[in-house]
Amino acid sequence: MKSDIEREEWKSSSGFILACIGSAVGIGNIWRFPYIVGENGGGAFLIPFLMVVVGLGISLMMLEFAVGKYFRSSIVKSLEKIKNNLKWSGVFIACVSLAVLSYYLVVIGWIGFFLSSFAAETFMEFEQMTDTYFSIVSFLVVALIVMAVIGKGVIGGIEKFNKISVLILISILIPFSAYAVTLPGAFDGISYFITPDFSSLYNPKIWATALGQAFFSLSLGSGALLTYGSYLGKRQFLLKPTITIISTNTAVSILAGFLIFSLVFSNNQSPSQGLPLVFNILPDIFASMEHGTVLGAVFFSLLFVAGLTSAVGLFQVPTASIQESLKTSRRKATLIVFGLVVAIGMPSALSYTPLEIQVNQIKFLDFMDDIFGTYGITLAELVFVVSVSWFMCKTRILENLNKNSRFNFPDWTIYVMKFVVPALIIFVIIFSAIFDNA
Ligand code: PHE
Repeated sequence: MKSDIEREEWKSSSGFILACIGSAVGIGNIWRFPYIVGENGGGAFLIPFLMVVVGLGISLMMLEFAVGKYFRSSIVKSLEKIKNNLKWSGVFIACVSLAVLSYYLVVIGWIGFFLSSFAAETFMEFEQMTDTYFSIVSFLVVALIVMAVIGKGVIGGIEKFNKISVLILISILIPFSAYAVTLPGAFDGISYFITPDFSSLYNPKIWATALGQAFFSLSLGSGALLTYGSYLGKRQFLLKPTITIISTNTAVSILAGFLIFSLVFSNNQSPSQGLPLVFNILPDIFASMEHGTVLGAVFFSLLFVAGLTSAVGLFQVPTASIQESLKTSRRKATLIVFGLVVAIGMPSALSYTPLEIQVNQIKFLDFMDDIFGTYGITLAELVFVVSVSWFMCKTRILENLNKNSRFNFPDWTIYVMKFVVPALIIFVIIFSAIFDNA
């Protein structure tokens, strides 16, 4: 097939791994994870979260890679190749990633705002930004940056960009966390973060939140990993890269926890303030610290880079799907996705300007995060697992999961994917909906 011959392939296995780490490690690790830990009683959240990451994360991530690698196609085409009608499942997943991307870019824009204000040594508050139309300008700039990376293709754009960015990210995060834990009072923050509470294992709400956060953080359910897997060479094995990606992503979340809770506790702030934890509290904390403007600039550069590499992964999902389904050039597909993302993201950007666009009295962006970041991603993962485990030939799935690996997934893995995983996800969606409305 012509499209198969022309399809780009990662230049190296490390390039693939770094791109997946770039996709997984995002503002979900540094902004979402700490605030969710803070809302769910600190260490009480950690065990369920880690259990979901290890228990489900490894096999689900491998499944996405295996399907992408086998069909060498976008999410829409891959599912279409399993069964014609399943292309609609692919379209649904691509739409979810487009929706998540649309507000994710707005949040990266805010990070850009703090980054530039600290870099200019002027300290600004979140409200000062939302009193202006800055959200729109920064959203458009960030969307253009991501489009430029995607426009350069898989090797020249995505692989190169991630290789540099992930290295920058890790080299900022490690010394910065090491510094934070030496601050006076930091120890209380760390013990809040890591002291386990086994009674939390009986709390269904914690399990629901842990599942949602694990999927979001590992980039599951968006088709991003399947798309990256589709650029793999035939001989690439999957287990080792998967374990490397998951361990690095988890290590970054844990380091971010050390960093944020050390800062929060050493400044006598409350860890359970919810979503604004990073944007409302940290700028204040930096402003009151010695060398605060430098530290603030460093911290927000970290978030900015982490966000961009994840946004690149999300952008590639609809781009590859449009390119293949409409048989168009990468350039055109990229422009179409840019147009769509700007149109869908504009109300989110406007919701944090004087216009304050709202749905049901909540800001449009918060509404999007709730609907797509929590339910959309989880539902999309459900659609993916069901489409593959129920409709793709069982032996073919196992063959691709186990190819070139000394460890072999047993036959019953398929039954777990067919029955246990969907049941768990449905349970979690229902529970979190009930608790959210309680
Ligand atoms: N994993 C990213 C984060 O933690 C978010 C993301 C979700 C990226 C889905 C790509 C796909 O921020």
